[in-house]
Amino acid sequence: MAYYPLRPLPDRPRRAVADAWLDELAAALADPATDRAVLCRRTLAEIAYPAYAANWETAVNDPALPAGLRLALAALDPREITLEPEYYAECDEARFQRVKPLLWLWYSFDRLAPGGQNVDVGVRLRRLLAPYIFRRCGENFKAFQHVEFSFGYNMEVGDNCVVHRHVLLDDRGGIVMGNNVSVSDYANIYSHTHSIVDQRDVTDAVTVLEDNVRITYHATVLAGVRVACNGMVGAVAVATKDVRPYHVYVGIPAKSIRVKPNAPQDMTNVCLPSARDR
Ligand SMILES: CC(C)(COP(=O)(O)OP(=O)(O)OC[C@H]1O[C@@H](n2cnc3c(N)ncnc32)[C@H](O)[C@@H]1OP(=O)(O)O)[C@@H](O)C(=O)NCCC(=O)NCCS
Repeated sequence: MAYYPLRPLPDRPRRAVADAWLDELAAALADPATDRAVLCRRTLAEIAYPAYAANWETAVNDPALPAGLRLALAALDPREITLEPEYYAECDEARFQRVKPLLWLWYSFDRLAPGGQNVDVGVRLRRLLAPYIFRRCGENFKAFQHVEFSFGYNMEVGDNCVVHRHVLLDDRGGIVMGNNVSVSDYANIYSHTHSIVDQRDVTDAVTVLEDNVRITYHATVLAGVRVACNGMVGAVAVATKDVRPYHVYVGIPAKSIRVKPNAPQDMTNVCLPSARDR
């Protein structure tokens, strides 16, 4: 067996710049008086359009500036853009508007030079934002680039969870992750579904990934499915029904191909994790 733990990397010479930027953001987020929309706009303007950061209001209203530039400047403010989940009937307006600026900052940072594949700063920024977006966020949350949510506020995440690049976390009906959950690249976790007769008929259902669950590359978990502790959903599988503890499911629809060799003999009461009773 080849065991490849992550390599420690040497410090970047200018790491203090990122530290200062993140400290400033952390202080602003912790201050209840902070207007999150203004914080988002200012933070993005400083990175993307520094020439206009101090005079955003004047520039965005200046008809002498090219319309495209004014559009780009306007879009730095979360109140000037719409996100798809805002259109959903069951969107809790008050809760969503509270998290929307932070979602917009998260998504927009991913598309700028300092963000995207810049792992260190990106992970630290997302770790900073997540507790202010999610209903609950445990220790050491790690998200890579281009993760998308529905509401964000319906996420419950335990300790040491990792979400890899390009993952869709549709928390419309709620997603609960226990501890040590890993969601691999391009996976989709859904918590809403549509009637086959009338697509306006939507059912929301909480989807649960219990402790030590691994959802691997390009896999999909449908709404209301519970992946029990230590369960695994294989590459490209579609989990349409609950996954049993310590089982490895593959295929469409996902079926068990094996029980992990580390499964206890007695499988009763093996799952007593943080997400179990939700
Ligand atoms: C789920 C997985 C771990 C199964 O690995 P495994 O237990 O070693 O299984 P095997 O390779 O022995 O395959 C057993 C059978 O299932 C099939 N199978 C394995 N993975 C499959 C998948 N993702 N989809 C469909 N069938 C699959 C194999 O073809 C084999 O079928 P056969 O018996 O007809 O020949 C692996 O295939 C997988 O999806 N890995 C994803 C990559 C990964 O490890 N990601 C982790 C990052 S978090």
